[in-house]
Amino acid sequence: MAGALVVYESVFGDAKLIAMAVAHGLCTRLPVDVACAREAPTLVSADVRLLVVGGPAHAFGMPRPAPREDAARRHLAVVPDPGFGLHEWLDSVKLPRGIDAAAFDTRMDSPALLTKPDHAARTEETLLRRLGATLAAPAEHFLVTDVAGPLVDGEEERARRWGQALAELVAPHAIPVRG
Ligand SMILES: Cc1cc2nc3c(=O)[nH]c(=O)nc-3n(C[C@H](O)[C@H](O)[C@H](O)COP(=O)(O)O)c2cc1C
Repeated sequence: MAGALVVYESVFGDAKLIAMAVAHGLCTRLPVDVACAREAPTLVSADVRLLVVGGPAHAFGMPRPAPREDAARRHLAVVPDPGFGLHEWLDSVKLPRGIDAAAFDTRMDSPALLTKPDHAARTEETLLRRLGATLAAPAEHFLVTDVAGPLVDGEEERARRWGQALAELVAPHAIPVRG
């Protein structure tokens, strides 16, 4: 049975929690694999019908080497490889023809000046389209209360419901699995 793949980048663990919650929602209808970008396949199998990608907003966009190094230097984050994350994975991965996709990001809940610009998930969507994927739903944004988290209350449950809604969109005829 064709399944879903969730690929994430996370510096402090919040986007990883969201990726896991999305996977939890998806697996009500689809078999799901979850991988961080550094460990994700560079050639996505033709068995994957839905790809969900997400990570934190950094400097009004997706994480890149400079903001990752900044996170390590200024916020004492452990960043195993500042040179590689979700953007770099999307720059190099090969996707099967006809795959559906969706994007999410995590971002601060305030101030509006920092949080309004939509460049992280928007860039993810641009890269997904460039790879030939069809966006199954608009990007979703999940909020953290501070740079190193935690997530705002209720965001994991919202992510689980979003994952379930995505699964219903791409697999309307699959037999729902309780869980
Ligand atoms: C270097 C750096 C730049 C950031 N820039 C932004 C930003 O432009 N907008 C925003 O809403 N949050 C910004 N943040 C906060 C991150 O979005 C937050 O750390 C992230 O969502 C937490 O997810 P994670 O735990 O998966 O890393 C920034 C954080 C860091 C470390």
